[in-house]
Amino acid sequence: MSAISLYAKPSPDFEQKLAASLALLKSAAAQFVPLTQASSLGCEDMVVTHLMHEAGLDQTSASIFVLDTGMLHVETVALIERIETRYPTFKVDVYRPDADAASNFVEENGEQAMYKSLKLRKECCHIRKMEPLARALSGKKGWLTGLRREQSNARAEVPDIELQTVQDDGQTVERAKINPIANWTLGDIWHYIAINAIPYNPLHDQFFPSIGCAPCTRAVTLGEDFRSGRWWWESESAKECGLHVAAASDSSPVSSIIPIREINA
Ligand code: ADX
Ligand code: SF4
Repeated sequence: MSAISLYAKPSPDFEQKLAASLALLKSAAAQFVPLTQASSLGCEDMVVTHLMHEAGLDQTSASIFVLDTGMLHVETVALIERIETRYPTFKVDVYRPDADAASNFVEENGEQAMYKSLKLRKECCHIRKMEPLARALSGKKGWLTGLRREQSNARAEVPDIELQTVQDDGQTVERAKINPIANWTLGDIWHYIAINAIPYNPLHDQFFPSIGCAPCTRAVTLGEDFRSGRWWWESESAKECGLHVAAASDSSPVSSIIPIREINA
């Protein structure tokens, strides 16, 4: 059963959300130069790339980057080429971990280190995601994410724009983090993918609603939380790799259960 047939169901105010997202992207491209999109190549990020295209952005106004951790599924990596074919006005920049740091970590801690302790899992995320992220964001005034408030309790209060004070190459600088689909539901995401035939990861059709590195992602079963297939052996509060910790909050519980109503209908 395809992810579209499972999930596509727009909110009643979808058209207003869409207009607001496009307006936010246009204003971000005018205000925060250079601007870049952090794409995990998941369904949300494919939607953001399409919205950027619809808002008239191109590689002169915004770049797109992927952190290729070296642990992504082949289906995920294949999307890089699919993006460049579908949106020729964009080129995807790929950032990889420092090869020595990654191989030393595996040599010292083994291929399965992420399952051994939270400390080792975070160390792996630091080497494969955080350090490359710092390089990808260096010199950027703004970055776009596909974070949604509905995704987890920790993301329930994600703002549309957050001004962050960060260290960049030894300097303290301000950078805007822009979350143009923060208020979209999973139904909105898949509706937009369906009506625009946006390319997406075929793993989404195999019950992978949220996709990260292969060792840390698995399929979910009906009625399970969207993110229950990510770092499934850890507690809910630990489930962030560090890319978005500043946005995390444990208040305001939200529902993020995969809708089974559509499946039974
Ligand atoms: S994670 O923190 O649990 O890995 P998630 O997969 O939900 O994050 O993605 C949230 C947002 O983080 C994405 O919409 C994207 O903006 C950014 N992101 C996550 N993984 C990557 C990646 N590998 N490359 C670039 N951006 C990423
Ligand atoms: Fe390592 Fe898993 Fe983090 Fe990927 S998600 S960097 S494999 S611990």
